[in-house]
Amino acid sequence: MKALEGVRVLDMTHVQSGPTCTQLLAWFGADVIKVERPGVGDATRGQLRDIPDVDSLYFTMLNHNKRSITLNTKDEKGKEIFTRLIEECDVMVENFAPGALDRMGFSWERIQEINPRMIYASVKGFGPGPYAQCKVYENVAQCAGGASSTTGFLDNLPLVTGAQIGDSGTGLNLALGIVTALYHREKSGKGQRVHAAMQDGVLNLCRVKLRDQQRLQHGPLTEYSQFGEGIEFGDATPRAGNDSGGGQPGRILKCKGWQTDPNAYTYFITQAAVWKNICDVIGRPEWKEDPDFSTPPARLPRLNEVFDAIEQWTMSKTKYEVMDICNPLDIPVGPILSMQELSEEASLRDTGTIVEVDHPTRGKYLTVGNPVKLSNSPSEVKRSPLLGEHTTEILQQVLGYSTGEISGLREAGAVGSEDVNT
Ligand code: COA
Repeated sequence: MKALEGVRVLDMTHVQSGPTCTQLLAWFGADVIKVERPGVGDATRGQLRDIPDVDSLYFTMLNHNKRSITLNTKDEKGKEIFTRLIEECDVMVENFAPGALDRMGFSWERIQEINPRMIYASVKGFGPGPYAQCKVYENVAQCAGGASSTTGFLDNLPLVTGAQIGDSGTGLNLALGIVTALYHREKSGKGQRVHAAMQDGVLNLCRVKLRDQQRLQHGPLTEYSQFGEGIEFGDATPRAGNDSGGGQPGRILKCKGWQTDPNAYTYFITQAAVWKNICDVIGRPEWKEDPDFSTPPARLPRLNEVFDAIEQWTMSKTKYEVMDICNPLDIPVGPILSMQELSEEASLRDTGTIVEVDHPTRGKYLTVGNPVKLSNSPSEVKRSPLLGEHTTEILQQVLGYSTGEISGLREAGAVGSEDVNT
């Protein structure tokens, strides 16, 4: 039995943040019913398409294990069906622009009237306050949540990261909020409102930078490279390049082949506990006893010298050789792995972290599987639904409509007929 079997989710999400959350719930076994506008569907179905008229990878990789119903929730009959779905579901998830569901007539107060056990979960760009009404996408959240001002190099622009910390990151937070509310409902018998703001999610992931903001009041941040370079600190936590965010200095260093391979690099951490091993490996045994290098505080103003020496060594090895040599010596290093290398990595296939899925119109493609593994309820990745693929099935099985009633709803335009046409 899957961990969330028996939990039914009314999925009003679109784009990335909300679908990340509901996909996770579906992987854990919830019955996720994705409501989409007839004939249109989630905008991502058609975005960044690589194959004409086929659901994009953007969509398929965010909507596995779900069922799709097309329903016009602005139509009167559509609203009746939507009300019935609220009655039958445990959780409702949405990430529309602020106020969209209220405009449809489904405020939190109304939802509670329909189903007091309903857990109503939303992603929004910002929490209550001056920006509550703003539409927000990933990079806006990264900028507004403190990630961009602290990412990049000191002498250059703020940067956004490739990891979708605003969208997928907030989707993870929302999923945790939902299962927590479900747990609470077991005792209270009541649902509750769950809200996850993308700005909050990004800031939560940037906590070490807020830590550094406060440390700045008591002196320079000695583990930042700029300290050793004699560059003064300003008022705000600066961008720190590839410096480690923790107490063990680290950097990205060139490896053999870096001149032609953009990913021939390794991350190298000079963990204090294994400093002597590092000195031996890079051919600087004299640094073990040299007072300028033998202790972490002594090394801090000399990090450029330290990492230059280590890089002379890493440049003579491939990133995999660096890993093979350092790991047995307990030196923490990590190769810079490209998406190509990750997609071919056998161990990730073995654990279901990368999965090959077959899709009726796309054929085979790769996707990420559930990053969280439960010992007694493993996740199985099933392909994403075609637009409206389960409209009839859901109307019949979940809501008990007859075939004749469904035809009437179709004629009235309340539900789509994609599943009939296909
Ligand atoms: N039937 C009828 N209408 C439907 C519908 C359905 N099944 N599903 C959605 N709609 C309507 C909504 O009611 C809304 O209409 P309204 O504006 O007239 O009230 C409209 O479709 C689209 O909603 P909206 O969310 O405004 O879409 P958008 O494409 O303009 O904005 C975002 C996209 C992501 C910017 C916005 O949704 C947002 O800011 N969301 C919150 C933050 C977030 O999750 N951002 C990250 C996305 S990865």
